[in-house]
Amino acid sequence: MIEQQGNLFLLSTAHASLLLRADARAPGLLYLGKKLAGGWENASLLAPEYDGSGNEKPCSLFSAWGGTDFREPSLLLRAEDGSASADFSLRSAEIAPRTPLEGLPSSYGEETCLRLTYEEKRLGVLLALEFTAYEDSDAFTSSCSLKNEGKSTVAIERFASLQLEFWGKDYSFTTFDGDWGCERQKHTRPINGGKCENASFTGASSPFRAPFTLLARAGEAVGVNLVYSGNHRTVAESDDMGRTRLITGINPFSFSWKLKGGETFFAPEAVFACGHSEREVGLYMRAFVQEHIIRGVWKKKPRPVLVNNWEGTYFSFTRERILNIAKAAKEAGAELFVLDDGWFGSRDDDTTSLGDWTDHEQKTGGIASLAEEVRSLGLDFGIWMEPEMVSERSELYKAHPEWAMKIPGRDPVRMRHQLVLDLTLPAVQDYLVESVSSVLTLTKAAYLKWDNNRHMTDVFGAAPAGEYYHRYILGLYSVMARLSAAFPDVLFEGCASGGARFDLGILCYMPQIWTSDNTDARERIAIQSGTAACYPQSTMGSHVSASPNHQTGNASALSARFAVAAGGVLGYECDLSALPDEELTAIGDQIAFYKKYREVMQFGAYYPLGDVQGEWAGYCTVSPDKSLAVAVVAVLKKRTGMMNFRASFKGLEEDALYRVSVREGAGTREVGKATGGMLVNGSVRLDGIFEEQDARSANSVFTRMFVFEKM
Ligand code: DGJ
Repeated sequence: MIEQQGNLFLLSTAHASLLLRADARAPGLLYLGKKLAGGWENASLLAPEYDGSGNEKPCSLFSAWGGTDFREPSLLLRAEDGSASADFSLRSAEIAPRTPLEGLPSSYGEETCLRLTYEEKRLGVLLALEFTAYEDSDAFTSSCSLKNEGKSTVAIERFASLQLEFWGKDYSFTTFDGDWGCERQKHTRPINGGKCENASFTGASSPFRAPFTLLARAGEAVGVNLVYSGNHRTVAESDDMGRTRLITGINPFSFSWKLKGGETFFAPEAVFACGHSEREVGLYMRAFVQEHIIRGVWKKKPRPVLVNNWEGTYFSFTRERILNIAKAAKEAGAELFVLDDGWFGSRDDDTTSLGDWTDHEQKTGGIASLAEEVRSLGLDFGIWMEPEMVSERSELYKAHPEWAMKIPGRDPVRMRHQLVLDLTLPAVQDYLVESVSSVLTLTKAAYLKWDNNRHMTDVFGAAPAGEYYHRYILGLYSVMARLSAAFPDVLFEGCASGGARFDLGILCYMPQIWTSDNTDARERIAIQSGTAACYPQSTMGSHVSASPNHQTGNASALSARFAVAAGGVLGYECDLSALPDEELTAIGDQIAFYKKYREVMQFGAYYPLGDVQGEWAGYCTVSPDKSLAVAVVAVLKKRTGMMNFRASFKGLEEDALYRVSVREGAGTREVGKATGGMLVNGSVRLDGIFEEQDARSANSVFTRMFVFEKM
């Protein structure tokens, strides 16, 4: 809801308030925090009105470079004469319909915003800031645009999507960093009177620095994220006047956008939420993603249990081997079979054929009939593609070497023996749409895994250098928008060498993303916890794979691998046809159990449990009415005999009495009764309750799955 009193505006969600004032030179941020009761119009004590003169520097919602504010600016505009100085003044402040962000994905479900428009008279540029409140999920969004109303070109060298400023400089800065196989590891550091940065440079949101960032201090936390898949940057800077500024947006590195007269540039939408703790912010962020980012038929539709052949076969498979895995998958109760890399061109290893999306008939025996045969077993058929890439050993490269991203006269970097296609070119965009469409049509696939296995280097092509990274992402979004509109029933799963492009931009087109190539149960706990800090479990592709694990060599019990993978969208990724009968039966039980509870496991409120750096961690997913919950406790550090082991849960109704059961096969076994209060605030003794009972075995993680049913 948005209310107005003079030049004051109050944006409210169920638990939070954002109070702004349309001041003359920049909007003043008067308050962001716990919901304000009435009387908010008496705000003059929070900050005197600022007219741009004197020493007063209030907390504001943008900062254009060019005055006496020498902190990190949110906006830097360069005129044709080379000068970089802007001086904005208020033109209008209104409650208005939201402006669509041309070419960019954005949140949906709330049509009204507060629009503040400022003008820079010398440059002839209009800056519009739009703020929206999502009442049901306690999140706010901000979108900004710059319109050149003049005749001369203005270069946008920095344009953040959101600036927030707070009084206080004792905040910590939390980011989710990593690499291949260890994405989104949580790191927290004090800002400590200085500056902290979270930025990506790979051309994508990257495995190194996830775009979600948290600012927190005792009893207060604010989280920010971007609806964007390209290079991003979030900076927090505190100063000796006692303020902390937080800026998030497109990374200004190698960015310079020429805005000609009459043109408008839209920055990606930013999302922010505040609460008493990081956990509370996480709950709001996940609800926001579920309700206002994920769209289409899959928004609330139970996600199928899939079996993928990648770790089972890698490139060496035959039609017979694939069908054997699919038969075993059906026997175990899976619903979808996914044929991964290696089915096209002459792809027998990773040195060839990307771009040639035609059947490798020797291996598949005919991809259309293979898909049909999988369907005749009673499974849906899904397929893997890596549409943005080209192998130099391919027909596509022979025909169109100029479509590959490379710098004339320089031998390009070949990561995984492949080059990136220049998606800034409309012809390349069309090629992607045509090739993906023809594979989906030929195979009648119900699912597509969209991979992207390298970072961008040799960034050069048709678009101007300073616009290239962003134009690539706009090209990608245009392709994804066309394909998701043409195939609304297909379940698209994003992937990038594991989880190297896990962000809100991709999630606007693809309801789930492969979280990481690291499927080791112990390591997955930290990867999934870091991912779930902002993204709901229905977005996280999570698979049970072989033991010892192919990435780490660690052994873990099948029960533990399942308990951890069930914290996301469950799949299996191994040669099921080669498993001993008792393991396939156990997998059948796991899948039956998961199907019974998947509604709450995939779409319930998700509460992280324990501490991934500590002795144990896990998760608890709770139905909206709190009558049903499923939880997993995973012990990460073994103690001798695991004596006196205790844990507690979250999200349950404290006054309610619950039947507490543990998973046993496909069903449950009651172990006692307890109130929600005891389970949440108490310390529950779990000795002897773990599935993997032999404390001296090679198992690397001990787990138990619980079901809580309100009595
Ligand atoms: C990287 C993905 O993360 C894997 O799951 C698999 O699809 C391979 N690429 C195939 O090349």
